[in-house]
Amino acid sequence: MELETLKQRAMGCQQCVLRQQAKQVVFGEGNAAAKLMLVGEAPGAHEDEQGRPFVGAAGQLLDRILEAAGFKRQEVYITNVVKCRPRNLTLANGRYRGGSSNRPPTAAEIKACLPWLEEQIAIIKPRIIVCLGAHATRALIAEDARITRLRGQWITKGGIRYLPTYHPAALLRDPARKRPVWEDFKKIREAYRVEITEQLTFFNS
Ligand code: URA
Repeated sequence: MELETLKQRAMGCQQCVLRQQAKQVVFGEGNAAAKLMLVGEAPGAHEDEQGRPFVGAAGQLLDRILEAAGFKRQEVYITNVVKCRPRNLTLANGRYRGGSSNRPPTAAEIKACLPWLEEQIAIIKPRIIVCLGAHATRALIAEDARITRLRGQWITKGGIRYLPTYHPAALLRDPARKRPVWEDFKKIREAYRVEITEQLTFFNS
């Protein structure tokens, strides 16, 4: 319920210009009590159209990675650092043009949107967060974090274990990155198994 209330509030967010340029707010979806959360960058055109995160080409690859690692999409929670699609618009003669492609969110847009993600994390209380790509890694770990340096390393902050890995879109551009991401997901699977086992032991004791 808390998550639904937060979602309703996020739907009315006007903290940055992205909301006016996007069709809808892509809040996130999945298990509201997930132990594993995946955080991407921002919605693209397909996500903006459907109101769901990771449903385009990168999302289909993410689904395959999750399945191969033994996760069901409904079992985890998937969201983005920025909840509205950043479109590549150019301003000419007082009018916006273009917009069929995406651009990375700006630092100001990330800052404006971050409180939603922080509240999602506070409500869902995941034990493990996978940062998909540089933007999620910088937003959640450190502003100057480098994905190439941190990829595959566990970072514990506030009782949550974070694992930065490459964004699925980066794998589509550079398939050589699939192998390290697969190694990361094997670690995630193992850490998740331990979390679930510990939880079961606690409830059964
Ligand atoms: N890329 C992202 O980072 N998030 C999505 O939801 C889709 C593509």
